[in-house]
Amino acid sequence: MKPNHIICGDAVAKLRKLEENSAQVVIADPPYCNVLLEQDWDTQWKAVEDYVEWSVTWVAECMRVLCDDGLCFIFGQLGKREHGFIHLMSALCRRHQFHDLIIWDRVVGYNERRDSFTPCYEMILVLRKGAQPKFHKGAVREPYSSEKIETYLRDKRYQDRDARMKHLLAGKFATNLLRVPSLKGSSKEKCGHPSQKPIELIAKLVACASDPGDLVLDPFLGSGTTAVVAQSLGRNWLGIELNPNFVELASQRIAFARELLPRETVP
Ligand SMILES: C[S@@+](CC[C@H](N)C(=O)[O-])C[C@H]1O[C@@H](n2cnc3c(N)ncnc32)[C@H](O)[C@@H]1O
Repeated sequence: MKPNHIICGDAVAKLRKLEENSAQVVIADPPYCNVLLEQDWDTQWKAVEDYVEWSVTWVAECMRVLCDDGLCFIFGQLGKREHGFIHLMSALCRRHQFHDLIIWDRVVGYNERRDSFTPCYEMILVLRKGAQPKFHKGAVREPYSSEKIETYLRDKRYQDRDARMKHLLAGKFATNLLRVPSLKGSSKEKCGHPSQKPIELIAKLVACASDPGDLVLDPFLGSGTTAVVAQSLGRNWLGIELNPNFVELASQRIAFARELLPRETVP
């Protein structure tokens, strides 16, 4: 399949046509199942079991298409009472190799609740196909504050100050709790998709799990965030999206991919 284009259609049907072992990374941000109640695409399942069954099918196709050293990132969010993703994680971890569970700290809470703490995170289940997935740990780092650097430089155990400084300036390895503010309605990046993910978040996943030239696959492309990131970072990409309006939206964003990626998110 020719890379760098959007395939309009149903994810399962279109995934079945893709070559096996061809994608280095899958970034899948599927419908959540009754979390975005005003979106038809999120309320199409009568029961959680139906959602899990459907998800097991498309994930199996993604794992077939994934390279042996690839990683598959699957987003999931809980609703006020809805907890389909918990059941899905259990079903997927019984069928595939669990690699990690990333927490995306959205910083800003959503879905105000009176009877509980305000929800503020989404989950990203990470599955691997083989024992040794490609993962560039150093590609995603968090800067130390200048105060921290000053303090660490006073540590007498490190004799080579220049080497120590270089190490500290590189920043610390990111944890699996990724703190990236969700997009506000007024955000420059926001383009009109109800579940658009921040470029900064997707860039962290793509940067650590692939190299330039690798293929990044997104079976639920939405507004095209994964394609924008992949293109900007020199990766190849393929996106699948059911809704032709979102295909059009994504195409427009991808045309301006370079300008959309904030300089500091390019590793
Ligand atoms: C959570 S959104 C993805 C948002 C995307 N990550 C972004 O940043 O814009 C899920 C998308 O899946 C699409 N979708 C729903 N059912 C689908 C299906 N069966 N096949 C392909 N796409 C589907 C929806 O139209 C929606 O755009």
